Amino acid sequence: MPGPGMELVGEEEIQEVLEVLRSGYLYRYDVAPGKTKFQGKVIKVEEYVARLSKVQYAVALNSGTSALLTALIGLGIGPGDEVIVPGFTFVASISSIAFAGAVPVLAEIDRTLNLDPEDVKKKITPRTKAIMVVHMMGNPARLDELKAIADEHNLFLVEDCAQAFGASYRGRPIGSIGQVGTFSFNVYKTITSGDGGMIITDDEELYKRCFAFHDQGHSPRRTGAEIGKRPFLGLDFRYTELQAAVLLAQLRKLPKMLDHLQTNKRRFRSLIADLPGLEFREVLDSEEELGTILTVFLPDPDIAQKLAKDLGSKVVAEAGWHVYNNMEHLLDQRMPTPVHCSFSCPNYTESGGQMRYSKGMLPQTDELLSRAINISIGVPDPSLGSAFGVSVTDDLEVVEERAAEFRRLAGQYLK
Ligand SMILES: Cc1ncc(COP(=O)(O)O)c(C=O)c1O
Repeated sequence: MPGPGMELVGEEEIQEVLEVLRSGYLYRYDVAPGKTKFQGKVIKVEEYVARLSKVQYAVALNSGTSALLTALIGLGIGPGDEVIVPGFTFVASISSIAFAGAVPVLAEIDRTLNLDPEDVKKKITPRTKAIMVVHMMGNPARLDELKAIADEHNLFLVEDCAQAFGASYRGRPIGSIGQVGTFSFNVYKTITSGDGGMIITDDEELYKRCFAFHDQGHSPRRTGAEIGKRPFLGLDFRYTELQAAVLLAQLRKLPKMLDHLQTNKRRFRSLIADLPGLEFREVLDSEEELGTILTVFLPDPDIAQKLAKDLGSKVVAEAGWHVYNNMEHLLDQRMPTPVHCSFSCPNYTESGGQMRYSKGMLPQTDELLSRAINISIGVPDPSLGSAFGVSVTDDLEVVEERAAEFRRLAGQYLK
């Protein structure tokens, strides 16, 4: 099942898309100003997200993965560099680092299920260029501590906010605290356009570099090819008017959706909170996170396994995609060619870099995730371990039924 945005697709999205189709013009640039019925939806969506995020600049792209790659390249990260990233994340956080030419250095998570600042400090080497913080499952990480570490060591802070669009941290929108923030609009995310991504930043130079990389070296708002002016080669990760039309409708639904998720999450939590031995994931501020997932810790892995089975779910450690232990291509450093740069890149190895990954290399992460079960409030996604729970279209009555079921099943083990 998809995330909340996809469940709420309706008449508003249809109207927005029809406007684009009726204009007969689907491209993000108006290549013949005055001669087309250009709707400027991509520009509108970029301006909307920049305003919402309280930053100057936004670039819409075709995915969250290309947003991450573009952000890293925009920062000038490449061969010989290391980027610290949590071992609990979607693989794209890690693969974007490798495809930028740099080496991902895995760090532990703490009870927030996000980067542990203490472990980040231990992972810094002379090659470290950035910390990539991932706000997993709608819950912001310890940004004050991570920003302080980044500043002290002169590192970039990249915020992967793919799973946290709409969250904030101490009053500031997520993604606006590091040098650059990225979002995903795939179908599992808060809001969606089928696929899609966004980069936000306050740094004009970085914005121009990101824009150039995402579109063959060009500058924003061009009307034609800009021969002679392009700073470097780029690729094509452009967003289309059709996707932007859907996202505009979704953006307008966001406040109501978040309010509903928060209400459901509070209710679910309050109905199971007194179960003996049950603990909750640490949430820094329940008003500022998204409320898409409620994560509980059971007293030990054995109880967690049994309960997950009864719920028709899995403990997070075994759920699939988001845990480094289950990323065989990463563990073996498999790149598309046998040379497997960036891990074997001379810029890296000749400066003393040597990276080995192995199952069990992050014991704190493994211990936490072996006892963790995700309950869906708005993202029923088996690969996140949230097969059990409710969806965004459910009301409090369903929440109460599901919470009672959880109590009954958990009550067998928690006395
Ligand atoms: C934490 C995280 N980063 C990056 C991505 C990549 O986003 P996309 O699927 O839009 O490429 C995802 C998507 O699942 C994600 O969850």
